[in-house]
Amino acid sequence: MSMDVDVIRKDFPIFETPANGKPLTYLDSASSSQKPRQVIDRIVRFYETENANVHRGAYQLSEMATAAYEGAREACGRWIGSPSRNIIFTRGTTESINAVRFTWANQNVGAGDEVLVTEMEHHSNLIPWQLLTQEKGATLRHLPIDDEGLLRMDLLGEYITERTKLVALPLMSNVLGTINPVAEVAAAAHAAGAKVVVDAAQAAPHIKVDVAELDCDFLAYSSHKMCGPTGAGVLYGRIELLEEMPPFMGGGEMIREVWADRATWNEVPFKFEAGTMNIAQAVGMGAAVEYLEALGEDAIRDHEVRLTKYAMGRLEETGAIIYGPKDVSKRGGVVSFNLDDVHPHDLSTIVDQHGVCIRAGHHCAQPLMRRLGVPATARASFYVYNDERDVDVLIDAMAEAKGWFA
Ligand SMILES: Cc1ncc(COP(=O)(O)O)c(C=O)c1O
Repeated sequence: MSMDVDVIRKDFPIFETPANGKPLTYLDSASSSQKPRQVIDRIVRFYETENANVHRGAYQLSEMATAAYEGAREACGRWIGSPSRNIIFTRGTTESINAVRFTWANQNVGAGDEVLVTEMEHHSNLIPWQLLTQEKGATLRHLPIDDEGLLRMDLLGEYITERTKLVALPLMSNVLGTINPVAEVAAAAHAAGAKVVVDAAQAAPHIKVDVAELDCDFLAYSSHKMCGPTGAGVLYGRIELLEEMPPFMGGGEMIREVWADRATWNEVPFKFEAGTMNIAQAVGMGAAVEYLEALGEDAIRDHEVRLTKYAMGRLEETGAIIYGPKDVSKRGGVVSFNLDDVHPHDLSTIVDQHGVCIRAGHHCAQPLMRRLGVPATARASFYVYNDERDVDVLIDAMAEAKGWFA
């Protein structure tokens, strides 16, 4: 299976606008992806022809809005192999993880308990657990990685103990690209009676995610990294956990019956969706799923494996140090690197003059930067609208940076 990048690129209006007077070379999709016309048009159509609040109005327009919103929930579930009932809309991965912190974890993690994360966490899957364990008098532990950026699975037995209540880890690292053996971790966690939270912010846009195969208890992902709008995301939860969990936020719509001093809760998933949600954004996220489904998950993965391999080869030729697994089958389309003594920020500024957008910095993973022994890295990340030509433009622009700093 192959993808016709020239055809796909035409779906993305952003490429019609030059960057610094040059054709745009967008290599920062791990941060946020570009949006295809199909998604933009779907949001416009919602506002132009279906807009009303959902689940409230007994009139046709509200029913149309509700159908669009619930249709998006179904698509977002399908994308990760889940029924729609397990899908809670949020603002994104960060909010989804915090929702688990303030509900299940708040009830089930106490003094003396342990929460296990990894050394490769994005701050979104670290700070909530720091806050929780500090508040509860629990201990936060970090499963180490090896020098190639792979999880030290040989240490799992040491790090998951009878005190472990929760294991939270990324399916794919936003810095190293590492794809983690989550099902294996989940089996060990469950054997110890712990629950598993998967941060799928980087995985969901790029590799097949199936909550049943992963056997996770919660999973979070964001719309904006997978061709959808900002302001939308998903928290998946195992149904029995969602049933017993308290609400995340209180307000309209999440209730069944309210008295002056108490209330009962709406059914799952509505119990977790207080107030007027980001309806148009959720509808746009559903359209993004449909766009990616049409391209095909396997084709996306094959394309990115090929491109990542090419990029790693070309970056190696420049003498850059590349972080993360050498074996592309163990990583996604994210390549972090450092070039000689050129600071990543300087590199990013120079390549920007050529219309090239790369990320430079700590990538919201400061503890991982310390583990790698660097303050920052540059990072190129790929998606369906990138191909080898983008990598070549980056490499040519980097040659100029090398010249400047020589
Ligand atoms: C691995 C990982 N987790 C979590 C997040 C946070 O996602 P969001 O900002 O959409 O909430 C990101 C975003 O970069 C990420 O890469």
